[in-house]
Amino acid sequence: MKVDVLLGLQWGDEGKGKVVDVLTPDYNVITRFQGGANAGHSLEFNGQKHVLHLIPSGIFHDKAINIIGNGVVLDPAIFKIEVDEIVTKFNIKVSEKIHLAKKANLILPTHRMLDGAMEAEKGDHKIGSTLKGIGPAYTDKIGRNALRIGDILAPNFLEKYNAIKKGHLKTLSLYNFEFDLESLEKEWFEGIELLKKFKFIECEHVINKYLTDGDKKILAEGAQGSLLDIDYGSYPFVTSSTTICAGACTGMGIAPSKIGEVKGIFKAYCTRVGSGPFPTELFDENGQKLRDIGNEYGSTTGRPRRCGWMDLVALKYAVQLNGVTELIMTKADVLDGFDTIKLAVAYNVNGELVEDFPYDIENIVEAVYKEFKGWKTDISKIKAESEFPVELSEYIAFIEKETGVPIKIVSVGPDREATIIR
Ligand code: GDP
Ligand code: IMO
Ligand code: MG
Repeated sequence: MKVDVLLGLQWGDEGKGKVVDVLTPDYNVITRFQGGANAGHSLEFNGQKHVLHLIPSGIFHDKAINIIGNGVVLDPAIFKIEVDEIVTKFNIKVSEKIHLAKKANLILPTHRMLDGAMEAEKGDHKIGSTLKGIGPAYTDKIGRNALRIGDILAPNFLEKYNAIKKGHLKTLSLYNFEFDLESLEKEWFEGIELLKKFKFIECEHVINKYLTDGDKKILAEGAQGSLLDIDYGSYPFVTSSTTICAGACTGMGIAPSKIGEVKGIFKAYCTRVGSGPFPTELFDENGQKLRDIGNEYGSTTGRPRRCGWMDLVALKYAVQLNGVTELIMTKADVLDGFDTIKLAVAYNVNGELVEDFPYDIENIVEAVYKEFKGWKTDISKIKAESEFPVELSEYIAFIEKETGVPIKIVSVGPDREATIIR
């Protein structure tokens, strides 16, 4: 038995939440392995829409166990808001269905303050962080200065917390930044009390035992996307975790040989929230049309997402970094009604045609496009591939040929049901 991984191949928001929810009936365990509440994973079913930030997207299916793996940075205050909302809205017994890795790191209130202070200091060069404390929390993890979920039960937890907080306040005193630590701490400690009701696990042992016993199918749910990866994304405009498939190994405690299918998900076009280079970004009415039809506003921050055409150079790069074995294309319906659809097949860098994703994409002069004829059908009601307009089939076939990977799922709407498995 191996762990299948589903992860984003662009700048996040590819529709991971929706598709994990669709795939969950085939699995027994869904695991998050990196990131934190910077993620916003939307699901729609039975006319209800819900956005998850820390809780894995298998939570709405009865039999699935949902694990928050050791690679995640967890803010107890945000976790509590999420849990309370799910209990109220759906009456799900979350404490039985979510297990927490002891080695997952905690985001402290002062991490959020540091995130805000450091972003403000950057002025025009800001990363466009979701301000959830992600960067400072991973900084402390790598700096060997962090609190982990397993520490919550230790008798000296408060002492450790206060020591880290003291260090953060020293740093914060260098910034001119307003904050209300008292109210942040109140919510945080309420969150800590809630966490104690959940099962703490040694994720690496539990998952490896599932694999050895062979009775549980596991799907790892990525957050963010490959182009936001700390090493291979558009640095420094990235997040602070390993979003590519390698992160699933360290983020759950499994060996690379234990990875099964790698399901790479991408939108039929591209979006990005926050700052940083975006070679196929559209500033014209087509960009606005994608934003309006695709409802491209951040699930976590509500910010308008920057929109542009599909970027095959970036997609091939992400396929390679992750060893993608199956592709999933979402939001194909958003392209309904465009006369022409464009797809970047190369970059023109100072007059030279480049097909390998370059070190510096900020200096890309222009994306080189191949044009496709659009389709005029409403594909959102389509139930089978046989009903695809020929233009959509051609678009799909081209991407499959160029990446060398089959597109196994085409998503044509936000609802669970609007999914075509090929
Ligand atoms: P995630 O972060 O990858 O889970 O993606 P988000 O949930 O942040 O953003 C994806 C958005 O697109 C959400 O609003 C989804 O409800 C919506 N969505 C997902 N798949 C489709 C699709 O095939 N068509 C349309 N129109 N919307 C979709
Ligand atoms: P999901 O899982 C899209 C972006 C932020 C910012 C940069 C760094 O929903 O796809 P951070 O808060 O991590 O310090 O922000 O990364 N970002 C995302 N963009 N989807 C996400 O998650 C994101 N998580 C972070 O906008 O540009
Ligand atoms: Mg999202």
